[in-house]
Amino acid sequence: MRQLRRDTIEKKRQPGALLEAVLQARAMATIAVVGAGMMGSALCVPLADRGHDVRLIGTPLDGAIVRAVQAERRHPTLGLELPAGVRCFPVSELETAAVEADALVLGVSSAGVGWAAQALAPLLARRTRPLLMLSKGLEHTQAGLTVLSDSFRRGLPAELQAECQPVAVCGPCIAGELARRVPTVVVFTGRELGPARRLAEWIETPYYRAVLAADVVGAQVCAALKNAYAMGVAFGAGLHQRAHGERGSIALHNYEAAVFAQALLETRALVLSLGGSPDTVLGLAGSGDLTVTCNGGRTGRFGALLGLGHTAPEAIRLMQGATLECLEVLSVLESYLRIPSPARPELHALPLLSHLIAVGLHGAAVDMPFGDFFRA
Ligand SMILES: NC(=O)c1ccc[n+]([C@@H]2O[C@H](COP(=O)([O-])OP(=O)(O)OC[C@H]3O[C@@H](n4cnc5c(N)ncnc54)[C@H](O)[C@@H]3O)[C@@H](O)[C@H]2O)c1
Repeated sequence: MRQLRRDTIEKKRQPGALLEAVLQARAMATIAVVGAGMMGSALCVPLADRGHDVRLIGTPLDGAIVRAVQAERRHPTLGLELPAGVRCFPVSELETAAVEADALVLGVSSAGVGWAAQALAPLLARRTRPLLMLSKGLEHTQAGLTVLSDSFRRGLPAELQAECQPVAVCGPCIAGELARRVPTVVVFTGRELGPARRLAEWIETPYYRAVLAADVVGAQVCAALKNAYAMGVAFGAGLHQRAHGERGSIALHNYEAAVFAQALLETRALVLSLGGSPDTVLGLAGSGDLTVTCNGGRTGRFGALLGLGHTAPEAIRLMQGATLECLEVLSVLESYLRIPSPARPELHALPLLSHLIAVGLHGAAVDMPFGDFFRA
């Protein structure tokens, strides 16, 4: 932790200011954010506004972003300048930049979680510290379907696993809005709520609020599934455009609403089967995050391209390398649900998910099976 600042020490001399000064000093920390993509970089904004020493560290894939931020502070995919309090480092400097960090933030997408566990293990071996995960997704292992906070722990050497309890961020948070200080409320969830509370104390600002939740599995399953289901809601925008429809109140909003409601029902079935709470599906981590993902971002653009009539490979090409976790989660769910088990819902009982798998992974045309919806 940094020392008390001079102005803080001056304040301390004034009557009644001691507690305030101590609290302010406690709130200042060194925070290392690993992964310089959109979300990791966006989280640096509230951290810098809170006065922390923020170190944004690229992965091996982030060389161009790191060079751009180092040269002119401008983040190329967020399209804005990062605050002066954020220092950016290449992956070759990961260990030196993060060694003093009081907390680590993981900004990689699901594909980078295995790399991150290996890369951060030496830092966690030196000292236990809170770890906040922004990554959303699921992994299918022999143990079943695993949420990413558990995948990260499993990627660590055995002797570090007990010490490390990542806190996952779920709920609605578009990186571009957070980076522009647009009000956002998210969910911090972990198997232990102590680190979640501490991280929230360090990060919260008037525009970035965190609600603590104990349903680690439910919240992270919702976070992963919304990427797949939002793709299906976005078919409507593409179909409307394909029919030369104009923007406005007469579009495919009825279609989108029916897909949205079915998405929540199927999410509830999956969350329940994995031991999560149905209340989580109704709340910020479920319906809140699905709403935001349908309304903007790359998953919505990708779904709209499929609705327009592009095949999945064509739509992937048109997305020009954007991270498409919707396809990853569809593929994980397909391999998980294909294995029959009384503990797993059957794929035919999830007609929307089955259709998304067919369109996204197997080249089927968009033809929403509304007749099979709302039966359960
Ligand atoms: N963009 C958003 O609005 C948003 C909102 C909430 C949560 N998230 C989540 O945050 C995570 C990151 O999303 P993003 O928007 O920053 O994506 P991005 O594509 O901008 O950045 C992805 C990050 O992951 C790293 N990465 C990807 N594959 C990797 C691999 N194989 N090995 C090592 N590193 C790898 C990249 O280098 C980069 O740092 C995702 O899981 C996403 O679901 C994003």
